[in-house]
Amino acid sequence: MIKCLYLKNFRNYSEFRLDGIGKINIFIGKNGQGKTNLLEAVFFLSMLRSFRTSQISDIKKIGSSGFYVGAELSSRGGYGRHIESEYLDKRKLMIEGVPVGKASEFVNQIRTVVFSPNDILLVTGSSSMRRRFADMFISAVHPEYMAILQDYYLAMQKRNAFLRIGENSKTIASAKAFEPILADKGVKIVCFRERMLSELSSHVAGLVKDVTGTEREFLLKYNIQRGTDNEGEYLSRFEQERERDFSRQYATFGPHLDDFEFIYDGKALRNYGSTGQCRLASLCLKLACIRIMKSSGDEPEIVALVDDVTGELDIETKKSFYSVIKDADQIFFTFTESPDTDDFLSGAKIFKISEGQTV
Ligand SMILES: Nc1ncnc2c1ncn2[C@@H]1O[C@H](COP(=O)(O)OP(=O)(O)O)[C@@H](O)[C@H]1O
Ligand SMILES: [Mg+2]
Repeated sequence: MIKCLYLKNFRNYSEFRLDGIGKINIFIGKNGQGKTNLLEAVFFLSMLRSFRTSQISDIKKIGSSGFYVGAELSSRGGYGRHIESEYLDKRKLMIEGVPVGKASEFVNQIRTVVFSPNDILLVTGSSSMRRRFADMFISAVHPEYMAILQDYYLAMQKRNAFLRIGENSKTIASAKAFEPILADKGVKIVCFRERMLSELSSHVAGLVKDVTGTEREFLLKYNIQRGTDNEGEYLSRFEQERERDFSRQYATFGPHLDDFEFIYDGKALRNYGSTGQCRLASLCLKLACIRIMKSSGDEPEIVALVDDVTGELDIETKKSFYSVIKDADQIFFTFTESPDTDDFLSGAKIFKISEGQTV
């Protein structure tokens, strides 16, 4: 659990220290005061990236030269830790004051699941958002996945560079040299995604059923591209597609183009679902993440970051939401107004946020 959070030049926070954090915490404040920024800071400590931007330089306070975010953690076993990350000229990561070189040794000391109003885009938005979600979630549960993904993308970029030069005997040989790596890593990525999406699918189906009380079929369908789940077929597909890759100047098949669909009652939610159905599906997807993390072991603890989403839910859905989210070890909510009284929130710690400060 996070006991204490420190920020320096993080978004609109100059110097900030939050003590007295509990299991359930609520940040209340008007728009633009820094509530989401606090959730972003917690997420950053978990993954060393942001859920709102891919540009780390966006995070530092405008006009400052870098930022710092740290926390005091305590866990069930009583084993506490002080974790810190500083991004000035260089990145500096520390656990208990001892520098840590690799990001992989720092990330996932706490595991976070973010609920944001933008989650609906996982259902209705572009495939790149779904891939990003799946990749981040798989990396959180299986840290070894991140390295496989990096190796794949690096090999693809290098091969693409030869595709862009144009087709000749030398560039063909150079492009070919990367294909066994792509096939090896690509098949592993597809296998991880297939397993995770099938697990997510059954959890989401159960959650949708619980929340709506209907028996309609729900599933997440992973559209695996031909040959990408088998190394031999993958390699022979390169033989068929290499020419096309050269003419288009990029890899025209592979997990970097994968997508998955939400199917409800036999139809694609993206094309046929109401806004309410799409929102519910995205909410259940995130709740399913908590269930899967929960079932994958006791440590590290799960922190749910719930940004402005419960306000739009009807009372029944809100009750179901609270009944699942309570599986998280710690929760941070943001609200613009004090939430309606609810048993679930009754013991919560409340922090009023205004212009990057508690008031
Ligand atoms: N890099 C930055 N430096 C300084 N201020 C920032 C930076 N990024 C965002 N902000 C400010 O943070 C505020 C938004 O914070 P946010 O946490 O999104 O608000 P909310 O309370 O509505 O969730 C805005 O006032 C915005 O101008
Ligand atoms: Mg916000």
